[in-house]
Amino acid sequence: MRYSSITDRLADLGSEKWALHIRARQMQASGTDIIQLTIGEPDVPPDASLLAEAQRAMNAGRYRYSNGRGEPSVVKALTARYAKRRPDVTAENVLCFPGTQTALFAVMLGLVEAGDGVLVGDPLYATYDGVIQSTGAHRVTVPLKPQHGFHMQAADLERAVTPACRVLLLNTPHNPTGAVLTAEEIAAIGEVCRRHDLWIVCDEVYEELILSGTFASPFDNPDLAERTIVVSSISKSHAAPGFRSGWAVGTVEFASRLLPVSETMLFGVQPFIADMTAYALTHETGTAAAMRTSYKARADRIMQGLQNVPGIVPLPPEAGMFILVDVAGTGLTGDAFAWRLLEEEHVAVMPGASFGKEATSFIRVSLTVPDMAIDEACRRITRLAIRLLSPRERRA
Ligand SMILES: Cc1ncc(COP(=O)(O)O)c(C=O)c1O
Repeated sequence: MRYSSITDRLADLGSEKWALHIRARQMQASGTDIIQLTIGEPDVPPDASLLAEAQRAMNAGRYRYSNGRGEPSVVKALTARYAKRRPDVTAENVLCFPGTQTALFAVMLGLVEAGDGVLVGDPLYATYDGVIQSTGAHRVTVPLKPQHGFHMQAADLERAVTPACRVLLLNTPHNPTGAVLTAEEIAAIGEVCRRHDLWIVCDEVYEELILSGTFASPFDNPDLAERTIVVSSISKSHAAPGFRSGWAVGTVEFASRLLPVSETMLFGVQPFIADMTAYALTHETGTAAAMRTSYKARADRIMQGLQNVPGIVPLPPEAGMFILVDVAGTGLTGDAFAWRLLEEEHVAVMPGASFGKEATSFIRVSLTVPDMAIDEACRRITRLAIRLLSPRERRA
């Protein structure tokens, strides 16, 4: 039977990226004790009040069909939230989606197609290639360099732009690097986007997990308002990824153009999840603050634990739930180091190469495990680094 080309474009996207993670899971299933530091999922549950609100809403019959924009309860909460950042925002600027991922998919489908280019920084979040390629568009890479703390530089963006480019897919705070762009950097990047008439799709899912620095967004810059679309969710901020509750906020014209796409795809988001999200957005639960405290403390533990280890340079993250560690000084790539760490020391981390070319000398370590596991992982990373730099190993 015949399939459409989207199935070819998305086939194999990323299977090799996850090879180490999959191998670690297999080793664990066959009885090996592995410290799992590959994926980052909040290690705390959502606040009990959110579960109670979802339950209350279900019991109250909030399980009927919704509509393409979203339930009034959550649209109102989102309007209030974003109107604080830009006073012209009304309900007509907002669209609800099941998570940032779906929002990204629908937004990209509404903005680009075959022949178009989408600019995106490298390293990049694992699903971005799929989101871009599903539309038929192609990725145009902007290198994010370690010497700039992986912050996108306007000059690098300018160099990368081609006549086919229509969108800059920006991610701040950034996964996997944790970089948080400053308002000045965003203004300079925005200037390039204005010159080339590019949309800016800004993935802000880590907005509430900033460990140092200040959040800034093109959405808050009046000069960029007409071209900026924010996508986000409660997955990270409220430790609620399984609820699949997110949104996109852009201009009124953008939202009205995209509404039929959303209606066709989804026929609305679950009302009981909408009510729970409205509750989450209007009540302080302390979940994000608690995660910020523990992720910052764990990042500091790793910085300390690895600070004098030969061949190893950890980079303090500005945000998020990961820390990047440069292992180039051990003589191995991040990929080779990660595989040896798994096989010899039973610690699973992501090779930086899984997130792009610019991170090939790095490993990405998740901060979503207890402190004791973090400390033990540091001891084992140290052991491997020392072994790699020992005269015997160097001769081999
Ligand atoms: C940068 C980035 N964007 C989007 C997502 C997906 O978020 P959601 O659960 O809201 O779909 C993730 C999840 O890890 C992420 O890291």
